[in-house]
Amino acid sequence: MNRFKDKVAIVSGAASGMGEMEARLIAAEGGRVVLTDVNEAGEAIARDIGDAAVFMKHDVSDEAGWTRVVDLARERFGPPTVLINNGGVGAYGGIHEIETDYMREIMEINFMGSFFGIRAVLPSMREKGGGAIVNISSGLATTSLAGYFPVGASKWAVRGMTRLAAKDLAGFNVRVNTVFPGAIDTPSLVQSVRDNAATMMPMGRVGSSEECARVVVFLCSDEASYMSGAEVMVDGALLC
Ligand SMILES: NC(=O)c1ccc[n+]([C@@H]2O[C@H](COP(=O)([O-])OP(=O)(O)OC[C@H]3O[C@@H](n4cnc5c(N)ncnc54)[C@H](O)[C@@H]3O)[C@@H](O)[C@H]2O)c1
Repeated sequence: MNRFKDKVAIVSGAASGMGEMEARLIAAEGGRVVLTDVNEAGEAIARDIGDAAVFMKHDVSDEAGWTRVVDLARERFGPPTVLINNGGVGAYGGIHEIETDYMREIMEINFMGSFFGIRAVLPSMREKGGGAIVNISSGLATTSLAGYFPVGASKWAVRGMTRLAAKDLAGFNVRVNTVFPGAIDTPSLVQSVRDNAATMMPMGRVGSSEECARVVVFLCSDEASYMSGAEVMVDGALLC
């Protein structure tokens, strides 16, 4: 398949896990990709992908930096019409025990980072007549688990933003969807979940980065042309 021929994508948090896989899958299908991350390991991944990829060190919570990311995409490949807001962090503790500054920091990364990304790519998408955005939320945004307040609340906010943005941007032919990964085998996964997957997970195992990335990439492709505001669980029946 060549679903991303002539398309330019930005994937945040692409130095590891699902983001890396999404960048590789898009490039393998003819797309050109800007990988961003705070971790410079993304440089080697972009080099490995080849001429269709470029890396920029960027913290998603840096709003001004988003302009530089979009400028790089435009200069190297053209106006981006695909955005995967993947970069994010897990963050734990109850509402009664976390520091306010910690909560602010997590909201800046997980929520504002995606908000800044959407706003930064929008002019390119409107110029090109449309686009596709996927915000990576979490299974935690479908339930309430004690001790997961910062990541849970920030990912609930991402979920809400996705639905509101989908409505606001439908008239511009910009689709906005969200994916809720369950337990996916990346460096972010809590080790005890990996260790106990055989008994904890309905399918007896956690998911792979590729299993989740393939769903994300589908939502970014024209195959999903009438999907917007959708919330897709990729969790092997964990939270259904
Ligand atoms: N792995 C899971 O089970 C799981 C479950 C639910 C949600 N998620 C979400 O999936 C997304 C991808 O995570 P992953 O599991 O592939 O983990 P990962 O640790 O492999 O990758 C996350 C990447 O995001 C980058 N990152 C962190 N903070 C950043 C920032 N401020 N700016 C830019 N990049 C930043 C990290 O450096 C890392 O490369 C995250 O948003 C995460 O919250 C993962």
